[in-house]
Amino acid sequence: MKLLVTGGAGFIGSNLVEKLLEDSNNEVVVIDDLSGGRKEFIEPFLDKIEFHEKDLVGDIDNYFSGVDEVWHLAANPDVKDSSIKTFFRDLEITKNVLEACKNNEVKNILFTSSSTVYGESELNTPETCETKPISFYGATKLACEALVSNYCSLYKIHGYIFRLANIIGKNSTHGVIFDFVNKLKANSSELEILGDGTQTKSYLSVNDCINGMFVARENAKDQINIFNLGTKTQTNVKEIAETVVEEMINAKLIEKKPEFKFVGGFEGGGWKGDIKEMLLDISKLEKLGFKPVNSSQDAVRGAVKETIKI
Ligand SMILES: NC(=O)c1ccc[n+]([C@@H]2O[C@H](COP(=O)([O-])OP(=O)(O)OC[C@H]3O[C@@H](n4cnc5c(N)ncnc54)[C@H](O)[C@@H]3O)[C@@H](O)[C@H]2O)c1
Repeated sequence: MKLLVTGGAGFIGSNLVEKLLEDSNNEVVVIDDLSGGRKEFIEPFLDKIEFHEKDLVGDIDNYFSGVDEVWHLAANPDVKDSSIKTFFRDLEITKNVLEACKNNEVKNILFTSSSTVYGESELNTPETCETKPISFYGATKLACEALVSNYCSLYKIHGYIFRLANIIGKNSTHGVIFDFVNKLKANSSELEILGDGTQTKSYLSVNDCINGMFVARENAKDQINIFNLGTKTQTNVKEIAETVVEEMINAKLIEKKPEFKFVGGFEGGGWKGDIKEMLLDISKLEKLGFKPVNSSQDAVRGAVKETIKI
């Protein structure tokens, strides 16, 4: 099978490419402009893939020739820095990818959406919950979901939409863990924490995330399949800060616990548009056989150990 991964040099993308290559029947094409991703993440398997350093805003049709399945991951991944500009850019990318899928008769598309489409919703949020994004990032994902659904229905493509919790692990270059580790490497005496530290979310290891997407692809056969993907457990920001400190002391990167400086943010959240508490109902995917190996807190510790290495 010929598979194309957009954003394949990024955090989730590089882990996904590694996993896809475990099946020797897979031929893997990666398109990434390296705006957020790093070539070193795919360096170990560059001889086994077809890599194009290319902006998806532009003419991309010919790269999709003979492709059976597209994993569409390329996007601005940052909620805090999302804006009306990133909204239109990501929509343009997604439209181009879908047009290329249509023109080349791609059979499957898998799209990484986000829990942020729900906004401040009821906890243990099911897929049927109303979607009321409170950030440009969430609005972008919801608009892209609509486009994916529309193209899948009109052109008979099988669509998989994953509303991801916070994904963490090897090769992550953004998010709270990356931020804390880098702040402490720069200044070990104080750690600035956005918000009041009580923001509580579900964190999922990148390996569990990829396994979950594979379970859905194997077992869900509707034209358009929408799944939440997370853990049943949560971790708050202060617990993450404490785990980062513990692991950095163990690794002798810092000597002692720094002073935690909480810098407010917006209504208890880290910034305007930050969702204060998130927990997804994952029972729809569980019924198909998904079971995360790591709890949220185990995923956090594992990701901290990976992040302090880079
Ligand atoms: N990491 C998470 O917690 C999380 C949660 C929910 C959803 N997602 C989504 O999963 C996907 C992957 O996220 P990630 O965390 O791996 O982010 P990432 O930034 O590491 O990966 C995104 C990749 O897309 C590439 N890219 C961006 N714009 C491009 C363009 N115009 N042309 C070509 N390549 C382009 C970047 O260079 C990068 O390698 C994104 O769509 C993100 O929104 C991530």
